[in-house]
Amino acid sequence: MAKKKKTAKVKITPAKGRPMLSWVGKRPLRVIPAFPAQHVETYDPIRDLQADKPTDIWKDWPDAYPKGGLLFHGDNKEVLSHLLANGFRGKVDLIYIDPPFDSGADYVRRVELRGIKGTAKIDGEGYTLGEQIQYTDIWANDNYLQFMYERILLLRELLAEQATVWLHCDYHKSHYLKCLCDEVFSPIGFVEEVVWKRSAPRGNVIKGLSVAHDSILVYSKGSDPTWHPPFLKYSQEYKARFTQADPDGRLYTTDNLISPNPDRPNLDYVWKGVRKVWRVTKEKMRELERKGRLVHTSGGVARYKRYLDELEGQPLTTLWDDIPPINSQAAERVNYPTQKPERLIERMVVTASDPGDTVLDCFVGCGTTAAVAQKLGRYWIACDINRGAIQTTAKRLQNIITEQAESTRQGRLKGIQSGNNVAPGTAQYAFTVWRVNDYNLNIQHIEAVNLACEYIGIDQTRSDVFFDGTLGKKLVKIIPFNHPLTPLDLEELKKELDARPDEDRDITLICLGMELAAQSWIEDWNRHRKGGAPNHIDVIELCTDPKYAGFIKHDPATAKISIKRAKGKIKVEIKNFISPTIVKRLDMEHSLFKAKVTDWRSMVDCVMIDTAYDGNVFNVVLSDVPEKKTDLVSGNYDLSFPDSKSTVAVKIIDMLGEEVLVTKEV
Ligand SMILES: C[S@@+](CC[C@H](N)C(=O)[O-])C[C@H]1O[C@@H](n2cnc3c(N)ncnc32)[C@H](O)[C@@H]1O
Repeated sequence: MAKKKKTAKVKITPAKGRPMLSWVGKRPLRVIPAFPAQHVETYDPIRDLQADKPTDIWKDWPDAYPKGGLLFHGDNKEVLSHLLANGFRGKVDLIYIDPPFDSGADYVRRVELRGIKGTAKIDGEGYTLGEQIQYTDIWANDNYLQFMYERILLLRELLAEQATVWLHCDYHKSHYLKCLCDEVFSPIGFVEEVVWKRSAPRGNVIKGLSVAHDSILVYSKGSDPTWHPPFLKYSQEYKARFTQADPDGRLYTTDNLISPNPDRPNLDYVWKGVRKVWRVTKEKMRELERKGRLVHTSGGVARYKRYLDELEGQPLTTLWDDIPPINSQAAERVNYPTQKPERLIERMVVTASDPGDTVLDCFVGCGTTAAVAQKLGRYWIACDINRGAIQTTAKRLQNIITEQAESTRQGRLKGIQSGNNVAPGTAQYAFTVWRVNDYNLNIQHIEAVNLACEYIGIDQTRSDVFFDGTLGKKLVKIIPFNHPLTPLDLEELKKELDARPDEDRDITLICLGMELAAQSWIEDWNRHRKGGAPNHIDVIELCTDPKYAGFIKHDPATAKISIKRAKGKIKVEIKNFISPTIVKRLDMEHSLFKAKVTDWRSMVDCVMIDTAYDGNVFNVVLSDVPEKKTDLVSGNYDLSFPDSKSTVAVKIIDMLGEEVLVTKEV
């Protein structure tokens, strides 16, 4: 059960395919720890509709999880091993992943304050006020390969026999990733390489050609994957050929019925006074006439009537050039830097899964895969390491589910029309949010570095691109707080030290926590330094080190909220909200912003309320998520209340993704 706080171990089948790619530090993944998950939020607004669903459709769903979408916040290596340890081994029917591409870029998401136009440069910090680095995509080649190898191995364990995995990549790594997949799935698991033409060219074109496509590698676990060959609609040009019409207006064109091969004696006969070698037998010709499928030219030659409305369409090829990328005007745009179009993922989902199947994306970004799966009646599991990604996904799914449930109530669920595929009803009207290996992921990296330096007394060195400062005689590196210290971080450190052969100082690493594998890596490293070799490593783990425990609680956002019972309702009034982080940034650009933030609501992205909070899992009863950026949250809410005393919890998420939770028993 996911609630049990114990660490299980998950076994991973070794990869046996050939050829095998080799890189520095390649390690198999035989057994890895599976950490418990912490259930942090539930969105289940329409319990009655959920209850209407037959229970047998959930029969394959592991008992450890509530019935509904699962959104995990954490490093996908840990989330995938958690899923394996909790009943999802062999249960996932389709996986789409769109991992970092090793593109050497920092992906930045633009976040504006609500209600006002609020992005301006802040001196000395490369990013505008409202921008947040969503994730860093800068890797050393070998680290990237090990990172992807481990994830692909774990994903294979989750796949059902008839399942496929769709791996989105580009020219930076597609050749390596194909080798990795050949090794993990064996070359016979290869199904397709789809080329998606993203019409907007990318990157600068100082050298070579402008890149206009991505690759999507498709692999299957078993030999007979679910596959519904998709068709494309015929082009306007093709349709223009249907110029004739039946009296009821049904459009058709005619096809030749004369065989191109004269050497077919059994098809050589007279039809309506005309002797020809026909394409069909006389018997078939009579049947076509009976069914009204023949027309005769002025010379009496029979032709076949082909109706426009009967066409299935053009079979899809591996070149997908009909789906544009998300542009600035797209209705589905949620301002996530690498957001993919829903139509792209829709095509994969209808091709390689059935309604009621389980779809997984462990690099979900702003939730496109979950959104598509939800709309197409599939169950979904999603994961991202980035807090902003989780919040954006949660918000997106809340809106979709609310709309679907409303339509279902009114008996008019239309579903998405996709090619010839009409979406079935919804599989679920709820989802839960989980956190695995509970790291405090709240703090932005630049800020975390500043705070850690101030708190621990590190002398910051801004000129060093790798190390963050010095502590006494030691060099200090601060590991981003959105993940535990892993062997990958250590390999990066090793590489850096290899490039500085004269560096004789010892190293202190600062992190929130660390993986077991990182601990043994460091023990090994230090053992080899016993004879007086330099660069001994020690680690300060902020989560567990009593000396630094106060650090994590630094400067939280605060809210002043009145919660009371009045006139048969619970009345919630948010009187004020202050995010020190946002204010600090505004202070840096005083003249421009001081006068503008007159309303606390411009700092708030959304508000959620649970009227019966159990102190553990947040059940969203009301969510105030303004759709447009120019709109503000209301701040005043009337809710019906449970008969007995209960704890009301109000969660506020600000425009930089920080959360404040205020509770009161009323
Ligand atoms: C290219 S984006 C995915 C975009 C997504 N397809 C969409 O339409 O929004 C890659 C995502 O992977 C996430 N990511 C990177 N490393 C991760 C890890 N170790 N575990 C989980 N998510 C990770 C990033 O935070 C980012 O949101």
